[in-house]
Amino acid sequence: MTGVKIDGRIIAQTVKDRVKKAVEELKSQGINPCLATILVGDDTASATYVKNKHKACEEVGIITRDHKLDVNTTQTQLNDIIENLNKDTTTHGILVQLPLPKQLDEFTTTSRISPLKDVDGLTPHNVGLLAMKKAALVACTPSGIIEMFEFHKINLEGKNVVLINRGNLVGKPLYHLLLEKNATVITCHSRTRNLTELCQLADIIISAVGNRAKFTLTSDMIKEGAIVIDVAISRYQDKLVGDTDFEDIIQKASFATPVPGGVGPMTVAMLLKNTITAASLSDQIGR
Ligand code: GUN
Repeated sequence: MTGVKIDGRIIAQTVKDRVKKAVEELKSQGINPCLATILVGDDTASATYVKNKHKACEEVGIITRDHKLDVNTTQTQLNDIIENLNKDTTTHGILVQLPLPKQLDEFTTTSRISPLKDVDGLTPHNVGLLAMKKAALVACTPSGIIEMFEFHKINLEGKNVVLINRGNLVGKPLYHLLLEKNATVITCHSRTRNLTELCQLADIIISAVGNRAKFTLTSDMIKEGAIVIDVAISRYQDKLVGDTDFEDIIQKASFATPVPGGVGPMTVAMLLKNTITAASLSDQIGR
């Protein structure tokens, strides 16, 4: 059996088309949606991700403000920039690209962002709302994955889902979103003992490890007809790879995502969606 490729580029474009219309609508109401990004340091991969986010904003008519900060930026300097953007009524979304250089603390930084401008869904306020099924702004990669399931009309109710990640950007928010859809979710991580057995029982596996030297999800680890979402992207033997080899996994899976061209474009599309949500929220509170 050969499964269906879940094409993130195509699905992301459908999201972008909807966002573009919403941007026009907001502009007709006098709101010019604007995303501010903050990139600290000169990590090549992070710089590419931020550049792609700006390009996507431009495609749908969202204005961007680009803050590129020196690798030695202090926590106080970064806090001041976030504080100013929080106060700036023409900025609707704030994104601090992660990871941060070691002198900066991720929690201290992201929790300073106004929850109404938190387009990454990382503030304690929005994380709490997500856990209570009330969030308007949800982390982009997890909501992009849910969008992929919806596009392919994959019903999550009662499905056994194995998540291989427990981080704040992917595993934890996804856990809540999947529970909301009535899936049974098992969250695995580096200390999980029987990962292969758990994967072999799963209807859906969502893998976000990103270290091919240490971990590959292979077709012998999945059951026939399973759905495999590969969230990872890393450089390995001079190639961009995920946690799976698509050509291997698709022989056994009913649906699978490639890398690149799978989850990555969805993360960017959902950031655009969150930015217009934040712009609409700003209108509700009087800009
Ligand atoms: N680094 C990797 N993924 C992300 C993301 O979704 N948001 C931010 N801010 N940084 C990231």
